[in-house]
Amino acid sequence: MAPSSGALVGIDVGTSSAKGIAVDPDSGQVLAIAEHEYPVSSPHPGWMEQQPQVWLTATEDVLARLRADAPEILGIGFSGQMHGLVCLDADGAVIRPAILWNDQRSAPQCAALEAGDGLARLLRLTGNRALPGFTAPKLLWMRENEPEAYARIRRICLPKDYVRDQLVGTHRMDVADASGTLLLDVGARRWSGELLTQLDIPRSWLPELAESPDAVGTLDGVPVAAGAGDQAAAAVGAGITEPGPLSVVLGTSGVVLAATDGFLSDREGRVHAFCHAAPGRWLVMGVMLSAAGSLAWYHDTLLRDVAFDTMLGEAELVAPGSEGLTFLPYLAGERTPYADPDARGAFCGLSITHGRGALTRAVLEGVAFALRDCLDVVHEVGATTARGRVSGGGSRSRLWLQIVASALEVPLEIMATDQGSAFGAALLGGVASGVYRDLGEAADACVRVTEVIDPVAAWIEPYREARRRFRGYYPALRSVR
Ligand code: XUL
Repeated sequence: MAPSSGALVGIDVGTSSAKGIAVDPDSGQVLAIAEHEYPVSSPHPGWMEQQPQVWLTATEDVLARLRADAPEILGIGFSGQMHGLVCLDADGAVIRPAILWNDQRSAPQCAALEAGDGLARLLRLTGNRALPGFTAPKLLWMRENEPEAYARIRRICLPKDYVRDQLVGTHRMDVADASGTLLLDVGARRWSGELLTQLDIPRSWLPELAESPDAVGTLDGVPVAAGAGDQAAAAVGAGITEPGPLSVVLGTSGVVLAATDGFLSDREGRVHAFCHAAPGRWLVMGVMLSAAGSLAWYHDTLLRDVAFDTMLGEAELVAPGSEGLTFLPYLAGERTPYADPDARGAFCGLSITHGRGALTRAVLEGVAFALRDCLDVVHEVGATTARGRVSGGGSRSRLWLQIVASALEVPLEIMATDQGSAFGAALLGGVASGVYRDLGEAADACVRVTEVIDPVAAWIEPYREARRRFRGYYPALRSVR
């Protein structure tokens, strides 16, 4: 790759903000960052919505600020929150607020889709089971509950595709993000005609598919990559484009993702089987819905006036296993290993001797054990790996990383850049613009491991013991509902 004087821009259209970064293509150094926050609205319990126009305005602001701060822009890539349903009418106007990935309203449509031999058919056609987070069940919800709005639909898009389409003037979707619609034949990387017919969803509503690094258009003359859903993009940003290290994400949700050479899926659909952003590769990914989200809830609800560092310092003084206290992190339902929108969190085994440090440590450990559940299924479906690379806000706590490494029983690598999905999006923009030949060359130039957190030998046995307790509680509590 020839040295370049310019920057690659990655934009992540996330749930709480649009975030953009400008990256030096020769070193991966982040040259500028701009972020524009926006709210989520929840008009009913379990509903999560945003106006697509808000994403667009935020992205335009972020791009303008990066243009002012960064050198010449060579390529642009997008990543974004996955699964969200954006519906457009015949004039290309947005019909209703987007229904987001963390919206639970379509649980009845999922149950109907999986009834009888439905689950087996979905797994055969798409590699995945019906989860309320996914896009197709949201469409079915609209058909049943908002028939007039449904009748006006002519096109559907995912969040970052809506933004990119508006800026570039296309109607495209990459296969990585399309995997989370539940309408893609993931193994074949094309729409499932059979499923579309069965669900009576017109093929004309769906965009033309692309691979994530494909240039799908230009913005002010700068090539724009199709981009990818945030998890696949984060993996690209961590240099995980082929079998090797796992991507371990401690964001609001928690993820354990492995890149695979061929399409792998779980017989019961406990992990997501998606196309990777790297052309010709796939990924398997376990998703827990409340990872750093659990810690944020715990802090904001019970310890709002206590600094995070103080709270984590207290947890560090407690022995692994939190004196027999167990936290179940299912605060927003769960996906892996229990596809259960009604799963709920709990502190189990509380005693009068437990102090604040034990409660905090139990939260950190409960999330780590849930990530281990994800890892076990990822291994079961055939992905092999002996180390992980961490990203996400939670990875800023060394204690939490030690706990997660010890629960997963794998070393965790820390990367020079912790800009996650936006960084991966920038690298996709680099391939689209021809700065790099492929994602491997992009990772060689930009991705560096700076530190490795090893499992703490003395914690492994206590954590195996604590996990046995952890695993017993969900089935036991479920039977009480
Ligand atoms: C992945 C998923 C989340 C969202 C939110 O399946 O639902 O990563 O994309 O960021």
